[in-house]
Amino acid sequence: MHLSEILTHLGEDRKNYFNAVSPPIIQSSNFAFESLEQFRNDVQDELANHIYTRGNNPTVEILRKKLAALEGAEDALVVASGAGATAMAVLANVKAGDHVICVKNPYSWTKNLMLNFLPKFGVTHTFVDGTDIADIEAAIQPNTTFMYLESPNTMTFELQDLRACAALAKQHGIVTLIDNSNCSPLFQRPIEFGIDLVMHTGTKYLNGHSDVVNGIICGSKKMIRRIFETEIMTLGNIISPHDAWLIIRGLRTLELRVKRSFESAAKVAAWLESHPKVERVLFPFLPSFPQYELAKQQMSGCGGLITVFLKTDSMEKVEAFFKKLNRFLFAVSWGGHESLVIPMAAFYNIPGRENPPYPFTMMRFYIGLEDPEWLMEDLDEALKVV
Ligand SMILES: Cc1ncc(COP(=O)(O)O)c(C=O)c1O
Repeated sequence: MHLSEILTHLGEDRKNYFNAVSPPIIQSSNFAFESLEQFRNDVQDELANHIYTRGNNPTVEILRKKLAALEGAEDALVVASGAGATAMAVLANVKAGDHVICVKNPYSWTKNLMLNFLPKFGVTHTFVDGTDIADIEAAIQPNTTFMYLESPNTMTFELQDLRACAALAKQHGIVTLIDNSNCSPLFQRPIEFGIDLVMHTGTKYLNGHSDVVNGIICGSKKMIRRIFETEIMTLGNIISPHDAWLIIRGLRTLELRVKRSFESAAKVAAWLESHPKVERVLFPFLPSFPQYELAKQQMSGCGGLITVFLKTDSMEKVEAFFKKLNRFLFAVSWGGHESLVIPMAAFYNIPGRENPPYPFTMMRFYIGLEDPEWLMEDLDEALKVV
């Protein structure tokens, strides 16, 4: 289906609501049945019918159809956060005694899930260097049931060869999941490579306006139903109809936003790499990126995240750089309209906490929708003090 059809029309049955161009927010927790017969029939399938909003809400349902189509999946679920999406998808596929393979240094709360949450239920894990398929293969145990991928990875953008991972996992009956948030469904379609489940922090590009926290899980009808019937309905991890409506609105401009962010980031990354005050730049579409060839093979673009190391060994110089930077907000997260920076220096010298495993000269930029020339002017001024 054409991307324009998905973003503009799919799932929207306008004749049901006065031919309104924008769908209604069905702000109802509950749905009445017309008869005993309908009641008896509908309660047999909470995912397909409108019974109660913890299950299936019509506004959320429009969004689910669009998201599934964006990922080329049969179905999708929308939950309260990306971290929640990860947890639901993993929990639905492991049981006590199972083992999970996870890429090393995944998003921080994914790491926490592996380190501190799954062990409470007798599930073990191995972190692997996902850049090498041999490392993943070596980590497989007889009880491995799940493989967690994140490509590109969140801070330093390591990639996994998704076709190879999917083929290996299939040989061993292992369910695969990828956090596809960085690329968005526009630039990477893991289900086409054989990956079973795709999750997103929809908080980032899919909503795109820094005003809703949500998570997405896409997969086969069978897998989605399993996650829905056990994890979602039991743990009640859902999104409100109003937030779903905001994401539908955000999706209208997904293509424009994600392409703009990628193209601007590519410009800024190339410019930063040639700057004498910059030691190193990580961005999957720079020819200097260690896995540039793989990036070109399995992605048609990437998110607007750039990791930069300044050429200095002085914390004072790094601090002076950040004092001069005006056009980037200091903030976590990414994927909205506004450009951001996470300085690693902010995590240094915190009483009672270990310094991070990355140098204080490192920072991650997110390039939003502003004019990239205007952002580079700001960077250029700030770099003068380094
Ligand atoms: C790559 C990645 N995955 C997952 C998450 C978690 O998503 P959420 O914040 O929506 O729970 C984030 C959040 O920053 C992220 O950057």
